[in-house]
Amino acid sequence: MALHIGTIAPDFSQDSTEGKINFHEWIGGKWAVLFSHPKDFTPVCTTELGAVAKLKAEWDKRNIKPIAVSVDDVDSHKRWTKDIEETQGTKLNYPILGDPDRKVAKLYDMIHPEANDTLTVRSVFVIDSNKKIRLIITYPASTGRNFNEILRAIDSLQLTDKHSVATPVDWKKGDDCIIVPSLTDPVVMKQKFPKGWKEVKPYLRITPYPGD
Ligand code: BEZ
Repeated sequence: MALHIGTIAPDFSQDSTEGKINFHEWIGGKWAVLFSHPKDFTPVCTTELGAVAKLKAEWDKRNIKPIAVSVDDVDSHKRWTKDIEETQGTKLNYPILGDPDRKVAKLYDMIHPEANDTLTVRSVFVIDSNKKIRLIITYPASTGRNFNEILRAIDSLQLTDKHSVATPVDWKKGDDCIIVPSLTDPVVMKQKFPKGWKEVKPYLRITPYPGD
């Protein structure tokens, strides 16, 4: 089944560096970021895994549990973890799923045969507490991801869930937002946006950041 934004994230059980994980149960009432790595003991992945560990306070603030997956087995991940900790100067504080049978890679369509028959591309799935996929990003193996961009996009998703706003180009938490075009009742708008708004065009209404 093709995975889209809005699809329920496929559930699975798989071994990890922190023991067996039943994915939906493991997510619990939080959000998850599931991200794939082509292979253990590879340079780009090593830097990415360290970067995600260093962002722990940022994931926690947003109620997010990161979880990595690579097609090697858990024993290999555990050996690799020592290298990651040594070279990136941080302890790993989230699980890496073993996936030697490619169960997760297949469920999430992480193997793109035109890129490589057996290794995964760099996929990112942001999954909310209802287990719904909210964001999908795919990078080739040779391009390391920008996890600050993933945090920025999660800030936008979580803000949209609370307030009837969208976020403009290059938006960052705290910046002005856009009132969604479907909201047109001025009474409701005054209630939702007590700080007011500026109508640049009827379809482009800017309001100050509505969050705390
Ligand atoms: C890496 O993680 O460094 C990598 C993995 C596969 C292909 C190219 C780079």
